[in-house]
Amino acid sequence: MVSVTLENISKYFGKVRAVENLNLKIEDGEFIALLGPSGCGKTTTLLMIAGIYKPSKGNIYFGDKIVNDLPPRDRNVGMVFQSYALYPHMKVFDNIAFPLKLRKEPKDFIKKKVQEVAELLKIEDLLDRKPSQLSGGQQQRVALGRALAKEPNVFLMDEPLANLDAKLRVIMRVELKRLQKRLGITTVYVTHDQVEAMTMADRIAVLSNGRLQQVGRSEELYNKPRNLFVAGFIGSPPMNFVDCIFVEEGDEAYLEAEAFRLRLTDSIKKILKENARSSELILGVRPEDIIISERKAEGSFEAEIYAMEPLGRDVIVNLRMNDTILKMMTSSLFKGAVGEKIWVRISLDKIHIFDKKTEFAIL
Ligand SMILES: Nc1ncnc2c1ncn2[C@@H]1O[C@H](COP(=O)(O)OP(=O)(O)OP(=O)(O)O)[C@@H](O)[C@H]1O
Ligand SMILES: [Mg+2]
Repeated sequence: MVSVTLENISKYFGKVRAVENLNLKIEDGEFIALLGPSGCGKTTTLLMIAGIYKPSKGNIYFGDKIVNDLPPRDRNVGMVFQSYALYPHMKVFDNIAFPLKLRKEPKDFIKKKVQEVAELLKIEDLLDRKPSQLSGGQQQRVALGRALAKEPNVFLMDEPLANLDAKLRVIMRVELKRLQKRLGITTVYVTHDQVEAMTMADRIAVLSNGRLQQVGRSEELYNKPRNLFVAGFIGSPPMNFVDCIFVEEGDEAYLEAEAFRLRLTDSIKKILKENARSSELILGVRPEDIIISERKAEGSFEAEIYAMEPLGRDVIVNLRMNDTILKMMTSSLFKGAVGEKIWVRISLDKIHIFDKKTEFAIL
């Protein structure tokens, strides 16, 4: 088992900057997710760790050894892709045994190892079948088995659950997470699904446009997003963003938006005065941080119910104030009707504030 360090890694394909100056240390035994939208550079990063792509710049370390020039077969990485890429003409047994045969391991050893992996993944009964005779979830486990059989130092997975139906995906999420912890193999897991990343990984690296935006545990990314991109990408329904201006009147300070005016606490005022480089800001409010107010009260404002999106336990209430629409998450015990006016307030201790120009978080 090893740690994996990416040091100032860039990858260019002609003019395309697929990955730009990426720095990331993946600890020994850690499960890290690379999360970001399509085209942000996740697969490219994974393929550089595997040795299939060479970085245009920077160094990759396994432990404290630079592996830039080490070919894939000498890195001992196990890979699982979205398309499981099983060999269709081979039985499950031979699919799993394949990397060991390549390594010219003795027959007895191969048999024992395949058996061991099959038991671990609960596919002992499928060893004589061909991939076409398996369900998607079973094929997925065979692909995992093939990657695990060679006892890799590093486990690389690229959207391995994407082809499974929703229910199986949830089951495999938990199984994969348990398996990774049990085996303790350093794992890099690529996904564009924030729920997958948040539920499975020890830490998440959020990428956008080939650049690392933030690395942290789920709750760090959720509660302390560094910038507008992370704030908007993590969380469902996403954080509400409202353009506003910082204004002072006497001792008071406000965030003034098109639809409402928010009086700030002294501490927020102080932070903004010290850190905001411009008075043009973006207020970020998570849907669960908008709260129904019994009546008109200090800090509350009136909004019209624009639409209701029931989710069973919760309901997303779309609130309209002039041209602004905010999503509020509340209990489905709330019975409101479209067109009705209600009073709401924003939890000031939960708000986020971003610089409109740099998009960096100030608060
Ligand atoms: N071999 C290649 N030649 C040229 N451009 C490439 C190549 N591979 C990737 N790219 C470009 O590099 C960028 C990053 O691609 P990458 O495959 O890493 O994205 P991704 O984050 O894995 O996206 P997805 O979620 O869609 O799989 C994209 O703009 C892509 O078009
Ligand atoms: Mg990809």
